[in-house]
Amino acid sequence: MKIQSVKGTRDFYPPLMAVRNFIMDGWKAVSRRNGFEEYDGPIFEYLQMYQVKSGDEIVEQLFHLTDRGGRELAIRPEITPTLARMVNEQINALPRPVKWFSMPRLCRAERPQKGRLREFFQWNLDIIGISDCRADAEVIFATINYLRSVGFKPADIAAKISSRKMLAALLLALGVQPDRLTALYTILDKKAKIPSEAFAELLAVQITDPAVLQKIQALMSVESLDGIGSIVPMTPDAQSALDELKTLFELLAAMGIGDYCRFDIAIVRGLAYYTGMVFEVHDLCGDLRAVCGGGRYDNLLRDFGGPAVSAVGMGMGDCVLEILLREKDLLPEPFATRCLDYFIVPLDPAHEQTAVQIAARLRLAGRSADFSYKTSGLAKQLKFATASNARFCVILGDEFARDGRLVIKDLTSGQQTTPTADEFWASIESA
Ligand code: HAM
Repeated sequence: MKIQSVKGTRDFYPPLMAVRNFIMDGWKAVSRRNGFEEYDGPIFEYLQMYQVKSGDEIVEQLFHLTDRGGRELAIRPEITPTLARMVNEQINALPRPVKWFSMPRLCRAERPQKGRLREFFQWNLDIIGISDCRADAEVIFATINYLRSVGFKPADIAAKISSRKMLAALLLALGVQPDRLTALYTILDKKAKIPSEAFAELLAVQITDPAVLQKIQALMSVESLDGIGSIVPMTPDAQSALDELKTLFELLAAMGIGDYCRFDIAIVRGLAYYTGMVFEVHDLCGDLRAVCGGGRYDNLLRDFGGPAVSAVGMGMGDCVLEILLREKDLLPEPFATRCLDYFIVPLDPAHEQTAVQIAARLRLAGRSADFSYKTSGLAKQLKFATASNARFCVILGDEFARDGRLVIKDLTSGQQTTPTADEFWASIESA
């Protein structure tokens, strides 16, 4: 029986693993540059944790299991609930703000499609304990800082930003009942993802009053913050949320990334816990799903039994990002899947053990080294050494290593030296 890999998963053969490392090394470097500390949590949690606040979409996509003790568990589809649980547990001991990042492996039983798989990696940045919009700006900034650092230009991608707080105030001003808001967000979030007729149908099921329906449709097509007032009368709550958004855009411009950022009222987000600023980064050319998404979630810690502490963050998956990096030719491929200081070549069986000994002694001295299991001709071995990205080759053969000397070939310059074994080891072990 031939066993296949599971639908929606990936096998990371070394060249793909190198791409994954390139992406994750970049995430890590930018997180650190922006002052975030790394954390992680368990790969599974109690099922209930995701049922409390993540929203129906994520709950439908959970991989869940019952352990031998009858406990209902789920593999993490996101790490934000884990973060909220962890911060709550040490809330009095943690210096604030908590500025943490993580790069968890996540699983969602989603229909596999371009850019969406059942297992993926997601870069998370979160700031907990700061309620003002400088923290919102920092999360968006760090996100763009990374995307810019790998080569995306303002013509390639945009951070589309809106506010759930503002949208809620506007919908309430239009007469939508507060208890209908969450269901409505789920539909409004689909606006850009499904055909417009399907969106109109879904909306019409929720909003039965044709006048309100028409206003909501007009609102969802508004292009600038200044255009909102002509569609919906601004209540004090709506005005203050709108002013907050304006301040955020001013900050983003002052931070030098204004040309990557724009207002887009259609950004609502699928997750239930967002309470304020929401944003997604999209590519501007194709029809790919979001590169990343996030926002402010001021009630999640309280909903998980902790104090009311505000929070803001974002998650970026590796899948859409990798597609875009390839499309824009931004992956510095081919990646070296291994890099060696020394490659040891025995040219005949009599030197096989010496090759192992030299490789072992080099490794014990902290150098990367490997040896050939074969004793075939020198030209072939040198090719193999070059393919392994070795810097030097140690050639062992009766006609080479004479009088206790070693033959060391610099594979970059092609130059060959013949130090005595003592000289060679002195240079390695004293360095
Ligand atoms: P999310 O919108 O569910 O938010 O996911 C954020 C990003 O994760 C997406 O934009 C996408 O890049 C990636 N992603 C999601 N599902 C998949 C999938 N099936 N395959 C590949 N990539 C995927 C969250 O997860 C929030 N917890 C983010 C957050 C952190 N908000 C605040 N802090």
